[in-house]
Amino acid sequence: MKSDLQQDVILDPDTLPSHVAIIMDGNGRWAKKRLMNRIKGHEHGSDAVRSIVTAAREVGIKVLTLYAFSTENWARPKYEIKALMMLLKKFIISQRSELSRNNIRLDIIGQKYKLPLDVQKEIDTTIDLTKKYDKMLLNLALSYGAREEITTAVQNIAKKIESKEIAVKDITHDLICDHLYTRHMPDPDLIIRTSGEYRLSNFLLWQAAYSEIFISDTLWPDFSREEFIEILKNFQKRDRRFGKVPCSTSTDG
Ligand code: IPE
Ligand code: IPE
Ligand code: MG
Repeated sequence: MKSDLQQDVILDPDTLPSHVAIIMDGNGRWAKKRLMNRIKGHEHGSDAVRSIVTAAREVGIKVLTLYAFSTENWARPKYEIKALMMLLKKFIISQRSELSRNNIRLDIIGQKYKLPLDVQKEIDTTIDLTKKYDKMLLNLALSYGAREEITTAVQNIAKKIESKEIAVKDITHDLICDHLYTRHMPDPDLIIRTSGEYRLSNFLLWQAAYSEIFISDTLWPDFSREEFIEILKNFQKRDRRFGKVPCSTSTDG
């Protein structure tokens, strides 16, 4: 039986973004507004994650990347980092059956080695358990920073030149893409940022070259599947020109 969401949503499958990436921001402010501890905001933020993962799968998004922890977030207070890692572990474990039931593969981008060992272990188990699923890729950006990603890519390319595996002339856009964490996925068609901040905060800087950007004022814990669908509808009305002239412009004259 179709869920309510599937029955209500009319999205043109031909113009659906293949890859949606979300900067999930505003958990702290959500908690502050309610005179709660920031950690409460992160807890409610994980509930929003669950509902958006389900919504994305139901509408047919192929890749959903969620910015969950940045390389810069390591500078937050120790107790907040600890709570975020605990919530992450809980999420990874509790989502296993849901991911399997819904044919969703989990993967991560970022410095996995920097995460606590117990979290790494649970991530590896879930990645392994879901590796055959192909309805959607849920890609969590963890200890992710685009500058770190690009720096590591440059180092790895330089090593290959040093060992004469490749030559300088072999450095192309494609070669660079092949050295990024996102090598196996398309660039994000749509990047959503919640909480009304107009910045990328070191997220997918190379891959965002032609992404459509949508800023929502909603704080992440309040971000709903209804708003997500509205943003997808907004995306479908946009004219993506990629530097060319608009589709409606005649090229004959
Ligand atoms: C996003 O919410 C979650 C992470 C960055 C881990 P914040 O914790 O940044 O919330 P605000 O921006 O302080 O409201
Ligand atoms: C971006 O949010 C990182 C994540 C959502 C994980 P931040 O709250 O860390 O970004 P800034 O500090 O406002 O730029
Ligand atoms: Mg923030």
